[in-house]
Amino acid sequence: MVTTLSNPVSQSFPQVRSAIQSLQPQLVEWRRRLHQCPELGFKEHLTAEFVMAKLAEWQIDYQAKIAETGIVATISGTMPGPVLAIRADMDALPIQEENQVEYRSQHDGVMHACGHDGHTAIALGIANYLSQHRHTFAGTVRIIFQPAEEGPGGAKPMIEAGVLQNPQVDAMIGLHLWNLLPLGTVGVRSGPFMAAAELFTCKIFGKGGHGAIPQQTIDSIVVAAQVVNALQTIVARNVDPLDTAVVSVGKFHAGSARNAIADSAELGGTVRYFKPALGEFLPQRIEQILAGVCQAHGASYEFDYQKLYPPVVNDAEMAQLVRSAAEAVIETPAGVMPECQTMAAEDMSFFLQAVPGCYFFLGSANPAKDLAYPHHHPRFDFDETALGIGVEIFARCVEKFCDRQ
Ligand code: NI
Repeated sequence: MVTTLSNPVSQSFPQVRSAIQSLQPQLVEWRRRLHQCPELGFKEHLTAEFVMAKLAEWQIDYQAKIAETGIVATISGTMPGPVLAIRADMDALPIQEENQVEYRSQHDGVMHACGHDGHTAIALGIANYLSQHRHTFAGTVRIIFQPAEEGPGGAKPMIEAGVLQNPQVDAMIGLHLWNLLPLGTVGVRSGPFMAAAELFTCKIFGKGGHGAIPQQTIDSIVVAAQVVNALQTIVARNVDPLDTAVVSVGKFHAGSARNAIADSAELGGTVRYFKPALGEFLPQRIEQILAGVCQAHGASYEFDYQKLYPPVVNDAEMAQLVRSAAEAVIETPAGVMPECQTMAAEDMSFFLQAVPGCYFFLGSANPAKDLAYPHHHPRFDFDETALGIGVEIFARCVEKFCDRQ
């Protein structure tokens, strides 16, 4: 159970703010260092070395090499109390950076195009702050530096390695810098926040032949095209309009000659949803349509379905705690958006299935500085002012959560 303090803005507020403001130049420096050496999932070796060097410098206990490159730092206050975990992901993407900034990626074809360099810097910031303010909180804060969020997923192996135990983590928070929101805003909501992400492949086997003699063939392209069209009816006609789902075909491969009918075709797509019941229904319905259309044309099929990440679902009390922390930091209640939601996915969901918690978006776009490109774009960058805001929201969350004796 989580209880929040009755006093939403503690008297230590000015001190917290000035301590974190003085960290801002270092937050920018760390983020830029990390931005220059982006590494793909489970290969975050330089990143992990950088994190470990900082933790050692600040005399913070940590365990390394968890799920390859993951690190868990543990910082205890001066009094016993609850255990709160804070999660940051560290990996980059296989994208060639097109920004011409002095801190651009030094690794060809790899880029921090999602802001995980910022997440790591913010996590270092809160580690630094807490290690110097142990007297301000009761209990323990565990900071989880996670590999491979972009895939294949580092959260699950870290949980399996026991990062939520010894001591048992009571609750968990995490953030994503978010260029869909302007700097100075926060998106946080109770309940479903980000969607489940799943992948499917449909292989359709017809009978190839001469393009001029179709009567001897079963045209796999015609069958596959009808499957693509029929799949559109799932969201339009089978899912309750008050629920939310996406079925997108992103891949259609077939044929090699213009005057031949293709023997086989392959479709690939992604499925997104919030409600667990849709996780059962959607794959069944996709296969039903695939089987029905194939049968109507005398074709056969193979169907493969892969569940990647479950939906990110926030605990109501933890969402309220983050909301009040965010309101105290950004000081404009209208800037804290309670209905923010996206069909994008995150493996923070595995942590939130294991313990109650809240994941939230930290607005980071600043169009006036040309810092508003979307995530995963070769020109993605964000307003670094958000780094200090992120550390301060985490500090306020710790203060609220770890002072409830
Ligand atoms: Ni991301």
